[in-house]
Amino acid sequence: MPKKNDIKHLILPHLQNPFGYEGVKPLEEILLKGNMKPSEVIRLNGNENSFGPSPKVAEALGCFEDYNRYPDPNQRVLRDSLSIYLGVSPVNIVAGNGSDELIDLIIRMFVGPGDNIIEPTPTFGMYRFSANLVKGNVISVPRNDNFDLDVKQIAAAVDGRSKIIFIASPNNPTGNLATQDQIIELLQLGIVVVVDEAYYEYCGETVIPLLSENPNLIILRTFSKWAGLAGLRVGLGVMNPEIARLMMTIKPPYNMNRAAEVALLASLDDKELLLNQITPVIKERERLSLLCEYIDGVVALPSHANYLLIRLPKGRGKEIYLGLADLGVFVRYYDDPDLVDCIRVSVGQPYETDRFIMALKELLGVD
Ligand SMILES: Cc1ncc(COP(=O)(O)O)c(C=O)c1O
Repeated sequence: MPKKNDIKHLILPHLQNPFGYEGVKPLEEILLKGNMKPSEVIRLNGNENSFGPSPKVAEALGCFEDYNRYPDPNQRVLRDSLSIYLGVSPVNIVAGNGSDELIDLIIRMFVGPGDNIIEPTPTFGMYRFSANLVKGNVISVPRNDNFDLDVKQIAAAVDGRSKIIFIASPNNPTGNLATQDQIIELLQLGIVVVVDEAYYEYCGETVIPLLSENPNLIILRTFSKWAGLAGLRVGLGVMNPEIARLMMTIKPPYNMNRAAEVALLASLDDKELLLNQITPVIKERERLSLLCEYIDGVVALPSHANYLLIRLPKGRGKEIYLGLADLGVFVRYYDDPDLVDCIRVSVGQPYETDRFIMALKELLGVD
C-alpha cells in the first residue's frame, strides 16, 4: 500500500515538472526583497492602467448589498450590458474571470491530449500555459523580423491535430497589429482562430465585424487594461452563439464574482471617462518612445498598445532589467532568444516615465 503522505506519484505525469506562468511580481514581494517603500516603486511590468479604475467602481462596490448571494451563472445583466458596449447580441458573449479564464475555457473545449495549438511567437504566454495543462502540444511559428505574422508558415504548420491559432492583436509583447486580411486568410484554414484584442481600446482595430461570416472566429477582450480592473478579473469572449452556448455550460457556474460584476457595470456606466484616459496614455507612450530615441543604442518599437518593446544595446537586456529593479523600476524581461536584448515597458504616468528614463540612463552611463 502506498503511504498516505506519498501522493506525488498520483499527480498526472505531464504536470509533474512544473511549467508555471511567471506572472507580474506583486508589490508585497517587491517590498520584501528590495527593502523599499511603496512610493519608491515604479511598476511598469504588467501593462496595467496606472490611472486606475473609474471612481464609480469604488462607490458601487461600497454600496452593493448582495455579496452574500451567488452571482447569476447565466450572466444575464452582464451580457446585456456588454452587448451594448460591443455592438453584438448577448448570445455572442461569455464573461470570464479575466480573459485568462476564457483562454483556458477555449482550450478545454477544443484541445485534448496530443492535439495542438499554433502560436506565432513571441507572444502572450497564457496560450502555451493553458495548452500544456491539458497535455496539448504547442506549435510555435516565428514571426518575421518586424514581428509581423508569417501567414504562409502558419498555414504550413497546420496538421490534422491542429485545433486553434492564437493571434494577439496588438501582440504582447511586440505591440504590432495583425491585419484584417491576415485574419481572413487564417480563418480559411478551417480551425478555430482566436483573436485576442486585450488592448483594443488603445488602437480601435477589431475583427468583430468578421464574426457573422466566420463561426470559427473567437474574439477576446478584457477590462484589465483600458478600464483599470486587472485586480478584479473581468474578461470576455465574443463568439458564434452555438460556441457561446456550449461555453456557458462548461464554465464554472459562478466564474464571475459579485465584485467583478459590480465593477464591470460601474465601468460601463462611466465608459466616457475611461475612454478619455486613452489619449493621455497614447501621448505618454509617444513621449516615452521619443525619450528612448535620444539614448544611444536604445530603440522603442512602434506599438498600438499601452506598452513598448524596447531594444537595448546588444547583450544587455537582462542586466538592465535587473539593474532597473534594483533602482525600484520594474519592467518585463523574457528569457526568449528573440528578445534577449529587449525589455517591455508599460506606459505609466509622466512621473513614472521620467523615473524609468532616469534609471535607464544611469545604468547606461549617459546624461
Ligand atoms: C494579449 C493578452 N491577452 C490576455 C491578457 C490577460 O488579460 P486578463 O487580465 O483579462 O486575464 C493579457 C494580459 O497581459 C494580454 O496581454
